[in-house]
Amino acid sequence: MAADDTTYKNAMRLLAGGVTIVATAWQGERSGLTATAVCSLALSPPRILACVNLAGVTYELISKSHVMSVNLLAEGHAELAQRFAAKRATQTEDRFGNSLWRAGTTGAPLFTEALAALDCKLTDIIPLDTHAILIGVVEDVLFGPHRPPLVHFEGGYTSILSVLSEPSK
Ligand SMILES: Cc1cc2nc3c(=O)[nH]c(=O)nc-3n(C[C@H](O)[C@H](O)[C@H](O)COP(=O)(O)O)c2cc1C
Repeated sequence: MAADDTTYKNAMRLLAGGVTIVATAWQGERSGLTATAVCSLALSPPRILACVNLAGVTYELISKSHVMSVNLLAEGHAELAQRFAAKRATQTEDRFGNSLWRAGTTGAPLFTEALAALDCKLTDIIPLDTHAILIGVVEDVLFGPHRPPLVHFEGGYTSILSVLSEPSK
């Protein structure tokens, strides 16, 4: 028997996570979404894993392009994270909206202000229930300005510095 949705959500709210934007491009169209379900999978070859909702616009494009970038956000990028998580007004709405993105060697959009932007070619797409597990080999990395990371915790965005400065209960 599985735990109910609320119990599971209440538990996962307590898992502090780095915030990323997973992005792709195919035939001149770009798409990206805010994602915390991302982790390093292996070193040789360097593989990264991201879990993306099958019903989303970004998955649809990734399933065609077979490339993705994983852009690690810094504090100060909360608004950007909100934009890439917000419901789209139209299916084709462009969330990128500025010149701080450039195409990587795979063609995936890289955020030049990210702590690091990992440019990946997908090797495996594993659909499971509502989501797909995307596994990519990292072909290139672009490092941006070094700052504290953007952290998602208890349903909000924070910085690692403010987490550390919270009084312990
Ligand atoms: C903090 C945060 C983390 C998220 N993490 C994920 C994730 O790991 N995978 C996912 O599919 N959606 C995640 N979402 C939801 C997507 O960002 C959101 O549904 C987005 O609008 C989907 O865009 P799309 O239609 O381009 O796929 C997250 C949202 C927030 C606010």
